[in-house]
Amino acid sequence: MVTGLGKEIGIRREPDLKQGRKKPEIIAITSGKGGVGKSSISVNMSLMLQNMRKKVLIIDADIHLGNIDLIMGVRTEYTLADVLNDGIDLSDIIVTGPSNIDILPAASASGKMLEMEDVFLKRLATSFKSIENNYDYIIVDTGAGVAQSVLSFLLGADKIVLVITSDPASITDAYAVIKIIKRNDLDIPIMLISNMMPSLEAGESLYKRMSLMIRRFLKSDIEFAGTVLKDEIISHSIKVQKPFVIHSPNATATNTIRILTKRILQMDKKKQGDKKNVLDRFISNKKIKFEWD
Ligand SMILES: Nc1ncnc2c1ncn2[C@@H]1O[C@H](COP(=O)(O)OP(=O)(O)OP(=O)(O)O)[C@@H](O)[C@H]1O
Ligand SMILES: [Mg+2]
Repeated sequence: MVTGLGKEIGIRREPDLKQGRKKPEIIAITSGKGGVGKSSISVNMSLMLQNMRKKVLIIDADIHLGNIDLIMGVRTEYTLADVLNDGIDLSDIIVTGPSNIDILPAASASGKMLEMEDVFLKRLATSFKSIENNYDYIIVDTGAGVAQSVLSFLLGADKIVLVITSDPASITDAYAVIKIIKRNDLDIPIMLISNMMPSLEAGESLYKRMSLMIRRFLKSDIEFAGTVLKDEIISHSIKVQKPFVIHSPNATATNTIRILTKRILQMDKKKQGDKKNVLDRFISNKKIKFEWD
């Protein structure tokens, strides 16, 4: 029987304690320009996954403007910095949000992570190892643009979701992000979301323009996750700190997120070889190439 989203939300999912559980899939949500809807999409997609009975950790990796806690309406006390400075356990800084989703408020420390001494990084990596297998998916809400701290998270991901709007600056900045990702890692799959669109056709046509540009100048492909329409429900849900997939389970926007999430899950992920654990993957990208030869 298919049950409505509203009925399922709120049910605590029992942890999957099966032996030999696979490593979590890491999906990074990013953009060239800021303010295009990364956090709204990250939060609602994570809650949708949780509702599909997947166990999700959402990492707030926006080092300047992290606001996942606000969007989810939860209070955070500690960040990664406290794990390093005060020996607090990583599992103690993870807060539980709506639908029992786990949130890592990495915000103020994720930039510092890249400059840390190896001894601290090892400590952090060990803590991460102890928790990462609890999750099916790790959703990383990055900052906008091409700062080293953002790219480290992108290049450690299995899949990258790039959010664009029809604002010309969003398009040119997104192109710059794709160019740098491809320069560093040709294998990492990128999916586009056209957000704040007036119609589905406008969203698809924006993707086609972008895709043509990427094929022509970068000799590469990007896929399409879909279109999110401009919708008052989305802006309102941010204001009142109530994610719409929970509070408006039958809304068009919720259905859109459901469809987009399924498409993103179906996309082939990058083969990460024997890369060790999640944190190693984020911090092993210290030498990022910004220029295209
Ligand atoms: N499809 C949409 N329809 C209407 N409003 C939207 C839509 N998507 C996002 N918004 C609104 O746009 C604003 C910016 O969204 P959000 O904070 O998710 O963007 P962001 O890319 O994470 O921004 P930043 O780069 O500052 O982190 C919010 O007020 C949000 O409610
Ligand atoms: Mg944001």
